[in-house]
Amino acid sequence: MNKKPKIQKLNDMKAQSRLGGGQARIDAQHKKGRLTARERLDLLLDKGSFREVDAFVVHRTSDFGLDGQKFIGDSVVTGWGTIEGRLVYVFSQDFTVFGGSLGEVHAEKICKIMDMAMKNGAPVIGLNDSGGARIQEGVVALGGYADIFLRNTMASGVIPQISAIMGPCAGGAVYSPALTDFIFMARETSYMFVTGPDVVKTVTHEEVTQEELGGAAVHSEKSGVCHVAADSEADTLYLIRKLLGYLPQNNMEDPPFALSDDPLRMEEELNNLVPDDANKPYDIKDAIHLIVDDGQFFEIHENFAQNIVVGFARLGGHSIGIIANQPSVLAGVLDIDASEKAGRFVRFCDSFNIPIVTFVDVPGFLPGTNQEHHGIIRSGAKLLYAYCEATVPKLTVITRKAYGGAYDVMSSKHIRGDINLAWPTAEIAVMGPDGAVNIIFRKELDAADDPVQRKAELVADYKEKFANPYIAAQRGYIDGVIEPKQTRPRLINALEMLSNKRDANPAKKHGNIPL
Ligand code: HXC
Repeated sequence: MNKKPKIQKLNDMKAQSRLGGGQARIDAQHKKGRLTARERLDLLLDKGSFREVDAFVVHRTSDFGLDGQKFIGDSVVTGWGTIEGRLVYVFSQDFTVFGGSLGEVHAEKICKIMDMAMKNGAPVIGLNDSGGARIQEGVVALGGYADIFLRNTMASGVIPQISAIMGPCAGGAVYSPALTDFIFMARETSYMFVTGPDVVKTVTHEEVTQEELGGAAVHSEKSGVCHVAADSEADTLYLIRKLLGYLPQNNMEDPPFALSDDPLRMEEELNNLVPDDANKPYDIKDAIHLIVDDGQFFEIHENFAQNIVVGFARLGGHSIGIIANQPSVLAGVLDIDASEKAGRFVRFCDSFNIPIVTFVDVPGFLPGTNQEHHGIIRSGAKLLYAYCEATVPKLTVITRKAYGGAYDVMSSKHIRGDINLAWPTAEIAVMGPDGAVNIIFRKELDAADDPVQRKAELVADYKEKFANPYIAAQRGYIDGVIEPKQTRPRLINALEMLSNKRDANPAKKHGNIPL
């Protein structure tokens, strides 16, 4: 039997599968400044590493004339490949086929690679470009998304799950990403909404563009749904590769080690970073860049709740998660968004064996009706819970203010901080000098001949007594007071000392974090 025609048929089918919804739709995709599903995978994965599965799958639906529209491979490309030589599983939705919408077989393809990822302990990266559940397939499409949601949830805390939003994504194409660990968006060309502008107009009569409703700017600054907003699709994929460098393949592994610059490096500049005036701001990111390996900091949620800074870096080659109050934005106060941003980040690090380094300069929780009425109590409790629950090595450096409840929350010794250090500029107290004097000396001030003069004396006295790290140091609430320039070597030494740390929480089904 002549095999050549069969090989020819195979190659023809492969070529047809690669064409997705056809050249005209590919051109339309390019015209909108977007890449195709396969072009994205080429940029994401190490060259030549992609192995596709299910390239010949076709849908089984006949309603709404779909039996006359079959595209080989349907509307998603799935398989595995490597990033910097490490295995990852991928799916990339193809907008040129039914707008990337998800029907029965599309869901089956994604579920198959998610199951493989769980079995083999490697991350899943989803490149989403989809109008959500395929309308023509009805409840079968909804069931398909539910199958994925269940897998997203089961995989949470077991393997890293990363989502990129690469086009207009709606319905299940945003809820599945929302269940994953990190959402990346490409600026100007990607959108996320429960439902698009057309339906919004019908239901609420609101006229809104895709960008206004759910562009990268909205989600990376206002809603906090997006963790990293990149300038282009290529940049999005590059940043995903970079992020993976900090993460283990699964929760049974330690994160990858990478050679570092001098672990003993000290930075004089740190000694001058905190202004003498306790009310003057400084940028905590300056401290982070000076302390971590090669000044490299991969920030998460850079433009959302900027009063707290979170992200990944390395210390002595070890991957770490950093949480830092930011004195240059709202004085570093903890509000609802900051608490939720940091709480979720702490839980991610704890799930994946990434030690947590916390820099503290916080005047407390933000007071006022707006915050109270929107539930700062509930949100602040999330961060508190996350820190209490975390069993990875936890290092804390108090650079200046550690006031009130925020002192407790920000990885204090009392909630299992392993090594808690303070700079000499640290002020650890129930509240700042002004507020404290107003409350505890109210009667004395009311009776004073010269209340202004008396208040100045009392504030000076309070500062002398409490605005320092030594009362906490006397009690062992902090393990040491160090010169700021020593921070890098001290943290690296502590991380290495803690490298065999074992700690556990009581056996339970799961805790009840105040969601
Ligand atoms: C079937 C769909 C589709 C869908 C888009 N298409 N969404 N087909 N099911 N859900 C098709 C269009 O018919 C069109 O086909 C092609 O994809 C491109 O769509 P356009 O509308 O031309 O593109 P654009 O103007 O860029 O708008 C994209 C969009 C819009 C914003 C995604 O299509 C849209 O609003 N779609 C519906 C989104 C939605 O409400 N989804 C919710 C599903 S419910 P042709 O043949 O013309 O190229 C869901 C529930 C899951 O997902 C559970 C959640 C908990």
